[in-house]
Amino acid sequence: MSAETPEQIFETLVYPYLNHAVRMFEVGYATATDIDHGMRFGCGYPKGPLTVLDEIGPAVVLDALAKRFTETGDHLHQPADLLVKIAGEGGSFTQGSAEGEAAPELKHEISKVGVVGTGTMASGIAQVFAQAGYDVVVVGRSEEKLAGVTAYVGKNLDRAIAKGKSTEDDKAAVLGRLTGATSREDLADVDLVVEAIAEDLDIKLELFRDLDRIAKQGAILATTTSSLPITQLGAATSRPADVIGMHFFNPAPVMKLVEIVTTDATSAQVNETVKALTAKVGKVGVSCSDRAGFIVNALLFPYLNDAIKLSEDGVELGTIDAAIKETAGFPMGPFELLDVVGNDVSLAIQEELLAEFKEPGLEPAATLKEKVAAGELGRKTKKGFHDYS
Ligand code: 3HC
Repeated sequence: MSAETPEQIFETLVYPYLNHAVRMFEVGYATATDIDHGMRFGCGYPKGPLTVLDEIGPAVVLDALAKRFTETGDHLHQPADLLVKIAGEGGSFTQGSAEGEAAPELKHEISKVGVVGTGTMASGIAQVFAQAGYDVVVVGRSEEKLAGVTAYVGKNLDRAIAKGKSTEDDKAAVLGRLTGATSREDLADVDLVVEAIAEDLDIKLELFRDLDRIAKQGAILATTTSSLPITQLGAATSRPADVIGMHFFNPAPVMKLVEIVTTDATSAQVNETVKALTAKVGKVGVSCSDRAGFIVNALLFPYLNDAIKLSEDGVELGTIDAAIKETAGFPMGPFELLDVVGNDVSLAIQEELLAEFKEPGLEPAATLKEKVAAGELGRKTKKGFHDYS
């Protein structure tokens, strides 16, 4: 299908994403509210996919997808059974979906938080907790890397001061709550550890074995992995009931979402405490189980991959970016976002999704692989889909 007008580009890229959201909902992986909150607060979309679907009209989306499926034969374009049913009934995905769940409570006292890692995510997460009033110890591999965390937080706070949203006193207080450590032993007295180190299973397994030895009894051990099995991280410890996922989004100080990922072993108390804590630090929590991509990445990355495939069909990158911002109201076009996330990270996530769901349509786009092989990883290398040199 040639997609040249903004409306065609919208249908080509956004309708399959809406279909994925229906499939996620129909298998009971997440509630309609959490699916919609995931995309609104994780990616800054104006509305969640199920709300968008209701607004466009399930029957309209169904017809367009059915037509596309006859053209492509791609199972990802085949309308979800629930879409067929709701469209047939003239029903809605979101009506009556607001849950009246009681507000979660902190079942553990949390006053000191440990963050392991010094990259962008770790720095942003440290900022989130320090700004919410928690003492934070950041563990990094060198004083130089720790200084990078302080510089990141300082720069963000300076920007807020320049906009009149913060003060020098606030900045001093936030930085005063942050301490750096090059030894993991300094995590012995923290109530919660959030790790945001390299996205590599062996590296994380080694860390969790060490955290098991170091952390005090009852400490919550959280990972911000976006693609590795949290169940395996828990199993590397003698306390899998205390292990949970807290998946933050980039940039962590800005994006309001935390995906709270429980394994079969995570205790209900730890889950409730993390939900309450997420709200306390000003974030919106959504709940899901331990499956590749969780809610947001499982919906976001196939759409990004489809955008690359559309560009391979000859549609200009800038045309696609502009069309998506104009028609869908997403804050960034797909190529702008790929360059922020990093093509290496995006390829790894796409490969995880393909391995989990085994859908041929999830095969990473050839250009994504080429960009990674050429070291064109995005903003961090000054060149990705767009040029930043
Ligand atoms: N760090 C900290 N703060 C930042 C920032 C950064 N890197 N970039 C922007 N900000 C702050 C600004 O200071 C500003 O704060 P204010 O509202 O308090 O003044 C606010 O964010 C808005 O910034 P700007 O007005 O300069 O810029 P934009 O309006 O263009 O917004 C954006 C920037 C919030 C990043 C917006 O473009 C956006 O929402 N993009 C989508 C990002 C997204 O989809 N993230 C998810 C990626 S997937 C992921 O993380 C999962 C992982 O597993 C891969």
